[in-house]
Amino acid sequence: MPCKSNDELKELVNEARKITKSGRVADYIPALGKANPNDLSIALNFPDGRCFSAGDIEKKFSLQSISKVITLALVLMDRGKEYVFERVGMEPTGDPFNSIAKLESMAPSKPLNPMINAGALAVTHMIKGESIEDRFQRLLQFVRELSGNDGIQFNQEIARSEYDTAHLNRALCYFLKQHHIIEEDVDELIDLYTKQCAIEMSCLDLARIGIVFALDGKDPQTGNQIMPAKIARICKTFMVTCGMYNASGEFAIKIGIPAKSGVAGGIMGSVPGKFGIGIFGPALDDKGNSIAGIKLLELLSKNYNLSMF
Ligand code: DON
Repeated sequence: MPCKSNDELKELVNEARKITKSGRVADYIPALGKANPNDLSIALNFPDGRCFSAGDIEKKFSLQSISKVITLALVLMDRGKEYVFERVGMEPTGDPFNSIAKLESMAPSKPLNPMINAGALAVTHMIKGESIEDRFQRLLQFVRELSGNDGIQFNQEIARSEYDTAHLNRALCYFLKQHHIIEEDVDELIDLYTKQCAIEMSCLDLARIGIVFALDGKDPQTGNQIMPAKIARICKTFMVTCGMYNASGEFAIKIGIPAKSGVAGGIMGSVPGKFGIGIFGPALDDKGNSIAGIKLLELLSKNYNLSMF
């Protein structure tokens, strides 16, 4: 079923778009800096196959940190939750996503949660497979299954420049290696992580992934369980407590939907039992979340009473 353009959503997009001027696109690599700060798109994907959309829906973006939830789901299936949470914690942090501070000050030293970079790198390390290529292909295949789109690829230009500039992420990896949380070669792990972050899609694909989490791991079309319900629930809980980084508390109060953002401007939302949301708006606020995307979710949540609290 094609995704239908929707007038109510269009109005919300027009309203939220006004705020894009107050944000800035990420420019730590040229490929992200090229994004048009005015772009804004949204798609909603429902269990019965209906999909509604508005805005610049043809635009593709890299998942960046949104990939952290997906990798976590795969790794929980690969290794089980005891193994994963022995190495990465479950607690939110008020620090920025790439901070090294808590790694140094906590004892025993383990990343606080899988949504900050230190935790995400440890989780990516746990993807099973024979080689980096094999592990990446398993992740990509999982993303294709979740999105129902076999054409999903990664953006090579973004992966390459992330790899060339990931100095802080390398530092986090060396710290993790010193504390035996990871064992592999740091450059190989950075290669895998930067490809993971560069997986590219539209808001339509993202809304389709959002609904799988909303339905506790069920494929809305076939009814197949893509991941165990318990794992989908763990992922949604992390989305609530840490999905919007150090803005997660305010986001939970104002909007009240499990959501995960990425620095390219994507936000995936999962309204439990109801529908999936995909948003793209590359102008970011000072915490690194899509400024108009958050506004759009605020309007949506208010108008349709979506808060789970
Ligand atoms: O790890 C990084 O630096 C990025 N490639 C992903 C970070 C990200 O999306 C942070 N988000 N708001």
